[in-house]
Amino acid sequence: MTAINETVYMSTMLAGLENIIVDEIRSKISDAQIVEIQRGKIFFRSKQPLQNVMSLRSIDNLFIFVSKFSVGPHKVHLKELEQKMKVIDISKVIDLSKFSNRNVSFLINSSRSGKQTYSRFDLSDAASQGLMQQFPKWNIGTPEDHLLEFRLDVTDEEAIFCYRLTDSTFRFRGKQRMFSQAALRPTIAHALVWHSQPDKDECFVDPFCGSGTIVAERAYYPFGKLLGGDISEDVTEVAMMNTAKIDNLVIRQWDARELPLGEGTVDKVVSNLPFGEQILNQDEIYDLYLKFMKQLKRVMKPNGQAILMTDKVDELLRVTDKFNLECYIQAELSLKGLHPKVFKLNF
Ligand SMILES: C[S@@+](CC[C@H](N)C(=O)[O-])C[C@H]1O[C@@H](n2cnc3c(N)ncnc32)[C@H](O)[C@@H]1O
Repeated sequence: MTAINETVYMSTMLAGLENIIVDEIRSKISDAQIVEIQRGKIFFRSKQPLQNVMSLRSIDNLFIFVSKFSVGPHKVHLKELEQKMKVIDISKVIDLSKFSNRNVSFLINSSRSGKQTYSRFDLSDAASQGLMQQFPKWNIGTPEDHLLEFRLDVTDEEAIFCYRLTDSTFRFRGKQRMFSQAALRPTIAHALVWHSQPDKDECFVDPFCGSGTIVAERAYYPFGKLLGGDISEDVTEVAMMNTAKIDNLVIRQWDARELPLGEGTVDKVVSNLPFGEQILNQDEIYDLYLKFMKQLKRVMKPNGQAILMTDKVDELLRVTDKFNLECYIQAELSLKGLHPKVFKLNF
């Protein structure tokens, strides 16, 4: 049973980040109860104001869970879905006194996995027809133009219907930020930052900062010193523009193989290392990682910690071995056809 004023949320994220995000949910939303974790999705309940729930920054999208019901696998079963949507109770997510008798454009995005004989478009059509029988003045909008958005996910014969609270400006932090070609999505950068357990007095560095996504996410929490650097002049300029409004954040053009930082001065490093198709063959990557790690050994404080992301696993492990560093895999991600891993290094 759901208690009064308790809301069940569904959050979506990059698959592989679930454990880190469960930690963020539990830390930021004191009464949160995790209901279910699926690949790329976490369901949780809370009575806290929506504003608190929106403080989660590693999730891509936030929805309110409306209902779970069964749907058969064949096209003929879509008539039953239509009937269910005709009577579905959406009063806990929509103020019906405002919307039920108005011309409202809405959208239902659907997904399906399993052996159904219908497509996700058939699902959206049937569900939308049912909803319009409940609210005859409503009409189907376009992806660019709609007032209300729902999501219907069917896995085998189980359907989950949710109401969407956030749009793409949530995960891209508005419309102002510019992203370099190899830029991380801010939500992924945030998960890496969160996993480093930000401390208010620490010196935090991203030595391969690209367009500055990681340092910009780090700036949501208090810090001692915050620095990012990149070898590319163009990309460094983008990082400067992206972070111009953040006080005391320093962006520099530098070579991570010769970091211009003092010995034993850095508490945390979080970085998305060069990997994938961006650059360099295997030997060059190994050489880059080797020289960079030598610098890290020099600049990190005792007990310092680095969270590094790369799909060049062998090269990174060879290098950490060489310097006798503890190195643990924290997460395995699926990103743009690659499978980078997140590592934690203890100094
Ligand atoms: C994977 S990208 C980082 C992207 C960044 N996290 C973002 O969201 O924009 C790697 C970056 O490393 C930089 N890079 C490559 N070799 C470098 C070096 N020797 N020193 C510093 N930066 C370097 C590249 O210019 C690139 O911007």
